[in-house]
Amino acid sequence: MRTPYLAGNWKMHKTVSESVEFAQELVRTLSSSRSKLMVAPAFLSLPAVAAVLQGSKILLGAQNMAPEVEGAHTGEVSVRMLTDVGVNVVILGHSERRHSYLESDELVNRKVRLALEYGLEVILCVGETIEEREQGRVEEVVGAQLREGLDQVDARQLDRLTIAYEPVWAIGTGKTATPEDADAVHAYVRTVIGAMYSPDAAQRLSIQYGGSVKPTNVKELMAMENIDGALVGGASLAIESFAPIALFDA
Ligand code: PGA
Repeated sequence: MRTPYLAGNWKMHKTVSESVEFAQELVRTLSSSRSKLMVAPAFLSLPAVAAVLQGSKILLGAQNMAPEVEGAHTGEVSVRMLTDVGVNVVILGHSERRHSYLESDELVNRKVRLALEYGLEVILCVGETIEEREQGRVEEVVGAQLREGLDQVDARQLDRLTIAYEPVWAIGTGKTATPEDADAVHAYVRTVIGAMYSPDAAQRLSIQYGGSVKPTNVKELMAMENIDGALVGGASLAIESFAPIALFDA
C-alpha cells in the first residue's frame, strides 16, 4: 500500500508573516490526517515556517534549488541552505520552471542528483503541453522527462523520490485531466520506472497528480489505482480548500 501524499505548492504567494499564520492554521487543522503532507512556501518564508511545522506531521518543501553546491551564482539558493533551515523536500522540474525559466531536462537532472545526494526528498514534475497531447506525444514527452531527469539516479535513492504528473494545460487553468486520462499516464510512469529500475521499484513509487486539484475532484482522482497523491497549487493557499484535500479520506 502506498501512503497518500498531499502537497501544497504556494508558488510566489504569501509574505513571511502570512505564511507563518497559515502554517499555524494548517498544523491545527490537519493533525488528524493519515496522509503524508507537505507545504512548499517561498524561499524567504522557509526558516519561519520550519519553526511552525517542527514537531507536526507536515513536511517542509522548497519550490526549487540551484544545481551547484555553492559559488558565484547570484540569486540562487543552494541545497545546503535548504537542509540547514530544515527543509525536507524539494520540488524540481515544475512546469513553470521548465517553461518560464527554460529549465532543461539536463539541468533538472543535476538538481535531482544533488538534492538526493544531500539527503532531501525530491518531487520531480513531468507533464506534456496541450500541443504535445494533441500530437499524441504524451508518452514520448513524459518518458524522456523521466529518463533524462533520473539519469544516474541510483535505485537505492528511489525511496526519496516522488513523481508528480502535471499536464501543463491543467495547471492553474481550472481544467483537470479526467481521472482515467491521468491514471493512464501514471501507469505509463510506472512502466518507465519498471524498465529503468525494477517492477518492485515501480510498484513502490509514489506518483502525485497536479493541475487544478480541488476539494471537488480530489476523491475521484485519489480513487484511481495509480494516483497516490496530489501536488496542489491554487487550492493549497486557503484552509477552506486545502483542508478538505489533505483530509480527503477523513
Ligand atoms: P494548480 O497548480 O493546482 O494551481 O493547477 C498545480 C501546480 O502547479 O503544482
